[in-house]
Amino acid sequence: MPELELEHVQLGFVGAGNMAQAMAFGFVKTGLLTADRVFASAPSDRNLVKWRAKGMKTTNDNREVVRTCNMVFLACKPYQLGDVLAEIKGEISEDKLLLSVIAGMDISFIENNLGVKCKVVWVMPSTPCLVLAGVSSYCCNDAVSKSDKQLVELFLCKVGMCFEIQERLMNAGAICCGAVPAFLFTAADALADGSVKVGLQRDLALKIAAHNLIGAGKMMLETGLHPAQLKDNICSPNGATICGIHALEKGGFRDCLISAIEDGVQRAERMSKD
Ligand SMILES: NC(=O)c1ccc[n+]([C@@H]2O[C@H](COP(=O)([O-])OP(=O)(O)OC[C@H]3O[C@@H](n4cnc5c(N)ncnc54)[C@H](OP(=O)(O)O)[C@@H]3O)[C@@H](O)[C@H]2O)c1
Repeated sequence: MPELELEHVQLGFVGAGNMAQAMAFGFVKTGLLTADRVFASAPSDRNLVKWRAKGMKTTNDNREVVRTCNMVFLACKPYQLGDVLAEIKGEISEDKLLLSVIAGMDISFIENNLGVKCKVVWVMPSTPCLVLAGVSSYCCNDAVSKSDKQLVELFLCKVGMCFEIQERLMNAGAICCGAVPAFLFTAADALADGSVKVGLQRDLALKIAAHNLIGAGKMMLETGLHPAQLKDNICSPNGATICGIHALEKGGFRDCLISAIEDGVQRAERMSKD
């Protein structure tokens, strides 16, 4: 079977909402491919207007996207996937590279509903792909070749970082990659509330919170130091920062974050079983 190469990729999206936009708009922003090589489908024009405004092709017919494109992302909601697969199965051939970003729906669900062998990659990305700072975990079925994997990694790494994991860990990947931005947005919102409470204007408070999130992440990546060490470096004896840390510990900050990950994964696992 001929290998799919970047210059021949016609990129499709079945489902055109938040996650699909973050990926497609991110890919085009990197210059990996031009907007006219991206084709998206959805039942309504609600989201598709945004794709057209960027020069991308759109349709309300999912089959048209799968027929025309050789690398197709499935990006509808989990409960819609069964119907979508029934609709597109007639357009699937062995050479199509299918990438599902749908939480809780494993590779065998897709294979069984398509009834034909094709290349399937299950990706759990995050919406910061839009600003080229996403985190994506992925796993593949055995029809996916080494060069297909390289192509997938090329796309995912352009919009952030990516890593392959065993399929049994994909629900963990869904939360640790896809959901954590929501936890951090909540933290930023609360930090801004605190800053407003001590007298700062809201817009400044939000900017400070956002820059602090970027700054903390960059410090970890660029110094290679453990976050506990970076925290210790800021806390002087009998200082103000260690008082703030004590307040976080009294409020169960770490406990909350660990539970947020664990509860999220347990919910994703229940969704997979349903
Ligand atoms: N958001 C995240 O951070 C995130 C992270 C990782 C994974 N995911 C996964 O990404 C998927 C999409 O999530 P989202 O946040 O992007 O949801 P969303 O914004 O609600 O988008 C869902 C899209 O699916 C379309 N759709 C509905 N029925 C369809 C059908 N029969 N055929 C084709 N498209 C259909 C919708 O069409 P309309 O435009 O007409 O409404 C919409 O464009 C979910 O399965 C989720 O598990 C999301």
